[in-house]
Amino acid sequence: MEIVYRTGSAHELAVDALITFSHSWKAGDPLNGGAAAIDAELDGELATLLADNGFTGKGASTFITPTFGKTAARRVIVVGLGDADAITEDGLRLAYGTAVTTARDAGAKSVAASLPNSKFNTIVQVAEAADLATYRFEKYVGAAGTPSTKAIESITITGDATQAEADAAITEGRSVASAVALARDLVNEPGSVINPVTFAELAQQIADEQGFEYEELTPVEMEAAGMGAIQAVGKGSAIPPRLIRLTYRPGHDAGDSRSIGLVGKCITFDTGGYSIKPYEGMLTMKNDMSGGAAVLATMTALKATGCRHTVHGVIAAAENMISGEAFRPGDILTAANGVTIEVLSTDAEGRLVLADALVYTAKQGVEEMIDLATLTGAAVVALGDGSTALFSNNDALADRILAASEQAGEFTWRMPLTPSLEQQIKGDVGDIKNTGGRGGGAITAALFLQHFSEGLPWAHLDIAGSAFSTKANGYNPKGGVGVMVRTLLNYLAAEA
Ligand code: BES
Ligand code: MN
Ligand code: ZN
Repeated sequence: MEIVYRTGSAHELAVDALITFSHSWKAGDPLNGGAAAIDAELDGELATLLADNGFTGKGASTFITPTFGKTAARRVIVVGLGDADAITEDGLRLAYGTAVTTARDAGAKSVAASLPNSKFNTIVQVAEAADLATYRFEKYVGAAGTPSTKAIESITITGDATQAEADAAITEGRSVASAVALARDLVNEPGSVINPVTFAELAQQIADEQGFEYEELTPVEMEAAGMGAIQAVGKGSAIPPRLIRLTYRPGHDAGDSRSIGLVGKCITFDTGGYSIKPYEGMLTMKNDMSGGAAVLATMTALKATGCRHTVHGVIAAAENMISGEAFRPGDILTAANGVTIEVLSTDAEGRLVLADALVYTAKQGVEEMIDLATLTGAAVVALGDGSTALFSNNDALADRILAASEQAGEFTWRMPLTPSLEQQIKGDVGDIKNTGGRGGGAITAALFLQHFSEGLPWAHLDIAGSAFSTKANGYNPKGGVGVMVRTLLNYLAAEA
């Protein structure tokens, strides 16, 4: 799909579908926004049709009609933007994402879009939304991956921005969306394709393309570094674990930049190990690498979004399987910082791989760490599908992440690191246990990770409920969501 910008009016373009907009509207009032001009071309019939349809200009509501030669476009889609003074970045994305899929589903190949203004950021969000909303994973559909018949070939965005500025905005929006698409693809790929070794190969290829520093630890190096936890989790699989690091360093003019560690849980398949999962629970466990996918995907867009910080992307990749080599309940592991861990459940493996990965990341000299993990079913029980649970030992860090997630439209809710629950993970024969019982399961998992935060400002994002979706929602498809990529990019793009 091509997205181009043209100065002038979208209403003159001979396309299959024109997307125009209306702010909040009441039947009987004159139409507003781009819809007003189309209404004039249609002799007031558009307003009548919208009124019949109950259209009120509510955010992301759409109305589509053919125009039988009365407008340059063959069809007109009116998208609601709500109150003009209350429009948000995510409101824009939801509206234009919905409008673009409406055009696609009507069979349009060429589309023109008129926007409420010509601001750089508005163009970024519309381009981003168009790509996010039209994403599909169809590599394995049909014999040779026959693509869907309905696909938009070109979108022309119009307005009065300068061509150079608009082109830059489109490039930025599309870079962000393509990072999200990479994360979605990686999550959607089965565990037979994405394993710790193939994930590492891809990470290395990306590091080479982007000019990032790259390091990969195999079990031999893990052993030397005292990483007993990630090693144990990886032992049951025929494919060995990998600890992966990609480091982005900004150009010379970095000013007041920080050094930030992003750490992703990347269990390429989670059977539960000997504490094996039942059928239902194992069904979607190819998505247990979503944290790692988010970290890798975020790294690919750092240049395009002009990140001024040094970013270490660390991915703890292992496959949690069963074999004669696998670790067992009762085993006692020693993590890279010397903390000993009693394994109560081999299914609480995410916190184990993260333990070593957090200590390793702290050793890179970062000033703060953010980990992302499909860590607990308890986070899904607490917040429901689609929400991310945030835990942090630092209020300023937590507030910055919440602001970034709100801007991204990725719902995130801060949960407590309840000190009294520490006793639930206190070890009997080792320092700590890897499970803390039923009560506060997402919290005790976070408390476990805190033992490996090495005194740094640290935040933990439990994405068990938000990484994978059983139904499409807004501009997010069914399956891998690519969650937190845009939150992280917003976070990293923000001033220090
Ligand atoms: N990968 C799972 C958590 C998960 C559950 C992710 C549902 C996505 C959807 C994790 O490794 C796990 O199995 N957690 C256990 C921990 C328990 C054994 C303490 C859980 O949540 O049941
Ligand atoms: Mn598990
Ligand atoms: Zn897991």
